[in-house]
Amino acid sequence: MSNSPSDASTTAPTATRPKGGLGRLSTGDVLSVADLSTGDIDAVFSTADTLADDRWSFGGALDRRSIVMLFEKPSLRTRVTFEVGPARLGAHVMYFDHSKQRIGEREPVLDYAKNLERWADAIVARTYSHRTLVELAEHASVPVVNALSDLEHPCQALADFFTLRRRLGRVAGLRLAYVGDGNNVCHSLLLLGAALGAHVTAIGPDRCAPDARVLERAQRLAAASGGGACATTDLDAIDGADAVYADTWVSMGAHDSESQRAALEAYQVDAAMMARATSDAVFMHCLPAHRGEEVTPEVIDGPASIVYDQAENRMHVQNALLAHLLLGT
Ligand code: CP
Ligand code: NVA
Repeated sequence: MSNSPSDASTTAPTATRPKGGLGRLSTGDVLSVADLSTGDIDAVFSTADTLADDRWSFGGALDRRSIVMLFEKPSLRTRVTFEVGPARLGAHVMYFDHSKQRIGEREPVLDYAKNLERWADAIVARTYSHRTLVELAEHASVPVVNALSDLEHPCQALADFFTLRRRLGRVAGLRLAYVGDGNNVCHSLLLLGAALGAHVTAIGPDRCAPDARVLERAQRLAAASGGGACATTDLDAIDGADAVYADTWVSMGAHDSESQRAALEAYQVDAAMMARATSDAVFMHCLPAHRGEEVTPEVIDGPASIVYDQAENRMHVQNALLAHLLLGT
């Protein structure tokens, strides 16, 4: 979000703000979970709690606001939650399918930003390259929200830790074992968990280790919060985990290879692996899932699985995020 005021944001109504108002976030854009301070996260979770308890609360709060979605990759959860959710708050959402033509191909990213800021109040984008999001945010005066890039999936991690908080009553001190490819979801979980005082361990083969810079950043955050962030190839790290998390072995846009799948085979989450975690450990997955690959059906469809709670909470957390970004004072 650049500094020049947008016509759209200065003319939007204020009369429908939730009673008591919403706190302004310390960031104008959410490209990474690390853009959010712990105060921001607390505020978003608290508003999301209100929405999860009553999804019609704050009805009309985003009346006459317009949100533009630019998606280069397919989506079920992110697309539906960013369309249905803001519509429940009164906003109008437009979806642009960029699967055939990437953002910046028909005209420069700069011009996307400079046009969209004149009409819309926020941009939600799913991109191959994280750089595209950074450029959009540099040039647009309205908030830009990362709906998944090759580097991070912040809305997912926010929903995931919100889900754990609602279910287990706390996040600080929790042990989350992420098993598999050290991808965008893994990065956001490491960073957010570290900021919130949780202990997140990424477990997978060497070739699938998370980005070293992300890990270092998570470790710096963990040092301040009392949490932890680490990566290992050792499956013993699952022992005693409160939550076991799996994601696809091959992310959208990543190179699919026999050798990648072979390297990850030993990291399939099955009942024996879940038995190494705490007796009441939950199983998590951002979805879409591939039963028989990263997780067995008995685990993802079993009693420990909270994957559909995670999916539902995407909507509450994203609505809360948008409400704070657009209405925060
Ligand atoms: N978890 C998630 O982001 O799902 P979609 O790819 O369906 O949006
Ligand atoms: N890591 C996965 C997440 C999908 C929601 C991907 O990027 O494809």
